[in-house]
Amino acid sequence: MKKQVDLIIANARELVTVSRSAELGIIHNGAVAVKKGRIAAVGASDDILKSYSSRKVIDAEDKTVTPGLIDCHTHPVFMGDRADEFELKLKGATYQQIGAAGGGIKSTVRKVRNATKSELKANALKYLNRFIRCGTTTMEAKSGYGLTTEDEVKMLEAIKELNGGAIGAINSERPELVPTFLGAHEIPDEYRNNKAGYVDLIIQEMIPLVARRKLAEFCDVFCEKNVFEIEDSRRILKAAQAHGLGIKLHADEFAPLGGAELAAELNAVSADHLMVISDEGMRRMKEKGVIAVLLPGTTFMLGLKSYAPARKMMDAGLTVALATDFNPGTSFTESLPMIMSIACVKMKMTPAEALTAATINAARAIRKEKLIGSLEPGKQADMVIWDCLSYKHIPYHFGVNLVDKVIKAGKVIE
Ligand code: NIG
Ligand code: FE
Repeated sequence: MKKQVDLIIANARELVTVSRSAELGIIHNGAVAVKKGRIAAVGASDDILKSYSSRKVIDAEDKTVTPGLIDCHTHPVFMGDRADEFELKLKGATYQQIGAAGGGIKSTVRKVRNATKSELKANALKYLNRFIRCGTTTMEAKSGYGLTTEDEVKMLEAIKELNGGAIGAINSERPELVPTFLGAHEIPDEYRNNKAGYVDLIIQEMIPLVARRKLAEFCDVFCEKNVFEIEDSRRILKAAQAHGLGIKLHADEFAPLGGAELAAELNAVSADHLMVISDEGMRRMKEKGVIAVLLPGTTFMLGLKSYAPARKMMDAGLTVALATDFNPGTSFTESLPMIMSIACVKMKMTPAEALTAATINAARAIRKEKLIGSLEPGKQADMVIWDCLSYKHIPYHFGVNLVDKVIKAGKVIE
């Protein structure tokens, strides 16, 4: 008697399970059986079709199947765009100069403060629909364009409602969102001459409220020169930990402040960006198992020459994840495949390393590796069927969308 399941994907040219990261666990002519939104079995097509039957069978001949991509660092809730700044940057202005002139994060903050929660949701939805069509089935989502208690809560509530009302709720039409509180993204104008006052507001009011109302799983800080430096970041992140939030840092992006060392000291889940990480920072992150989240789309769009030292990190044994850093200023793309292309060409990652970085390692960076990030029995059935013969084409065949179908918690999105 064959076991009845809800969905079978069969005959995949390459079924890339990512269950054994060294060789990606590829099954040629592979199949997956899905029941109740979970993976029931993975194996050779002949074996799966002998043991399981389903009314719904997708033939993946000449196609590649991978776990759904996971984008572990994004800023998807905002209003407006910053296309004008893109042009200014092309003419030579730096991100820091644009910020000092009132643009950058602050220009998005003004628009977010003026928007209602429904407007924020409607705007984010446009992008979420595109994320899922690019193969992303789960993404981390940060606040950080409100910078008042009320506006930060408005952003986090928008994320929660887009997710179906609760952390961990699944809306199978679009990517699942993992919320991160980023009140420490910039110093708002009203606190320009009183940074300590803003740090106090974050610690005394925002973090306790966000934690009590379960509006976020993580707290992040933009740890950077002239923004939140090491001591501010330490205070904020320790307060977040005391309230039960996991912690992350935008670290060592432009100035080598020692953000990686701080991430290790505080046992952060991840340190992100790391374009100018020190050797000591790398060593300490490795010692503490902090995930290095690399965001080469930002380096690319800012037109900078030196990328995060991904090869050196991997050779040192660090776990490297990749993410889009989707935001209207420094990295306006929903496409993780595009980021994988940049990671291969500019940071010399192999296609296998890039795929691992955008699946299981990204799951680790949001503490969801037991549930998602690889194709193994019991895990959530989040998958992408790609219209190509090998996973290597995902970064190699660049700038186009190779996604054929996305499966989110067992539901097929065409
Ligand atoms: O990760 N560096 C700070 N935050 C974002 C940029 C956000 C923005 O410019 O709106 C980043 O690159
Ligand atoms: Fe970011």
